[in-house]
Amino acid sequence: MNLKKRPRRLRSSKNIRDLVKETRLSAADFVKPLFVVHGKNIRKEIPSMPDNYHLSLDQLEKEIENLIALGIRGIILFGLPKYKDQEGSSAWQQDGIVQQAVRQIKEKFSDFLVITDLCMCQYTDHGHCGILKNGEIKNDATLSRLAKIAISHAEAGADMIAPSDMMDGRVGKIREALDQNGFKEVAIMAYSAKYHSAFYGPFRDAAHSAPGEGDRSSYQMDAANSDEALREMELDIEEGADIIMVKPALSYLDIIQRASDNFNMPIAAYNVSGEYAMVKAAAEKGWIDEKSVALEILTSIKRAGADIIITYWADNAVQWLNEK
Ligand code: PBG
Repeated sequence: MNLKKRPRRLRSSKNIRDLVKETRLSAADFVKPLFVVHGKNIRKEIPSMPDNYHLSLDQLEKEIENLIALGIRGIILFGLPKYKDQEGSSAWQQDGIVQQAVRQIKEKFSDFLVITDLCMCQYTDHGHCGILKNGEIKNDATLSRLAKIAISHAEAGADMIAPSDMMDGRVGKIREALDQNGFKEVAIMAYSAKYHSAFYGPFRDAAHSAPGEGDRSSYQMDAANSDEALREMELDIEEGADIIMVKPALSYLDIIQRASDNFNMPIAAYNVSGEYAMVKAAAEKGWIDEKSVALEILTSIKRAGADIIITYWADNAVQWLNEK
């Protein structure tokens, strides 16, 4: 046949394919989530998230050294507190689990980026991300709590605060509180378009943060909405967010793409626990190849427009990329 255009020419050898590759993953794309717990000598695998662990503070040094050796720039920290109460007061204690972990990590590895997830759901006895009164999550009353927690994270040395609660006005309130307390340099990575998603299931096991009653649909976004995500991002940017996030990632690639098309901002995407767990489970059954599927997923998230990918595969992905 007399075909002038033959796209297969550019697929004919590995070298050509590498030359025209549009999306490349590297260690600098990834942020690894870590779960810290009180106690000693704890490195307990999370059943629904194989290869991810509950770590006591004494285990952190080894863990971070390993991530640094792989070229990973930072982590996002989640804490499992000693106690939960109505107020979520264990979230802002100076000797709280996250605060201790941040202090310890920054003492040893001052350049390594420590991002802290800022939310109340792990710390409240009702498991909601805000103050609960008469069955309602109180938006405005929650904001001062979030500000207080943010300051406690900044005091411990966090480089970046990542509010994941989805209350209105939180980014502005947290920015103001950080600035007024001498933390002008601490950045905010806002979970801007955080959807009410069933893909958080394994995380809630890992972080013991499932709501006791009701669900999070009055504050997290409806999966059916896309324009609303842009409005949320716009607000967070106006209020002072440095990085905006879309979460989850895989079922929301269109939202990542819209974010990247519409805003000249670094876009983060959270490749969440359920997205990870379903691949792990299928791989365990021998139904799919974990490495290929994981790299394909991560590539698609970056191709959609994410500059930063928060993923439980961070360390494994770098190992796989290094093998290639
Ligand atoms: C806390 C928070 C959640 C996740 C990150 N921060 C859970 C939730 O909102 O229910 C989910 C992360 C994951 O599933 O990997 N609000």
